Amino acid sequence: MKLVFATNNPNKIKEIQHILGDQVELLGLADIGCTEDIPETATTLEGNALQKAMYVFEKFGYDCFADDTGLVIEALNGEPGVYSARYAGEAKDAEANMAKVLLKLENEANRKACFKTAIAVVIGGKKTLMNGEVWGEILREKRGAKGFGYDPIFQPEGYALSFAEMDLAEKNKISHRARAVQKLVAFLNR
Ligand code: IMP
Repeated sequence: MKLVFATNNPNKIKEIQHILGDQVELLGLADIGCTEDIPETATTLEGNALQKAMYVFEKFGYDCFADDTGLVIEALNGEPGVYSARYAGEAKDAEANMAKVLLKLENEANRKACFKTAIAVVIGGKKTLMNGEVWGEILREKRGAKGFGYDPIFQPEGYALSFAEMDLAEKNKISHRARAVQKLVAFLNR
């Protein structure tokens, strides 16, 4: 079957194509000629993932899945959540985003947070949602230089390393995205 992954990130496509094997031909947005910015105006991760997958299904006629990820911080009532990429402004600057989180949590003892990835799948118009989470804590300062986004200030529960101090293979064993993708693979292979 052909399945579109509503992303422009070739690395994400390659990674999931590898897991799915050759019974699914994974196509990216460029492969189907979708060059416009797909609206992401929902107020939840699930809502955004569904909005993206439905856009491709309705406009291009392909079965599709889409993901959306956010960092959910308990003491900030779930912020930055769905606004994680642009928490400190439209520049989508990871350093500025982390600085904003650290400042807001400066005098906060509750450091509990989770990364959450929502995936929406639309097959023949039928919608299915799944998600993956990893819980941990927001550190008091940045640690490590690997990874991206909020990785330097997030330490998963049960580990002494931040995500930015872990090798990618180690992060991928426990990450929100990996957990959501495992559910997607189980769903597609059902
Ligand atoms: P997206 O939905 O995958 O584009 O993720 C939205 C935003 O969440 C990114 O711009 C990052 O700021 C943050 N993010 C997503 N995944 C990760 C991760 O694995 N580590 C750190 N930050 C992440």
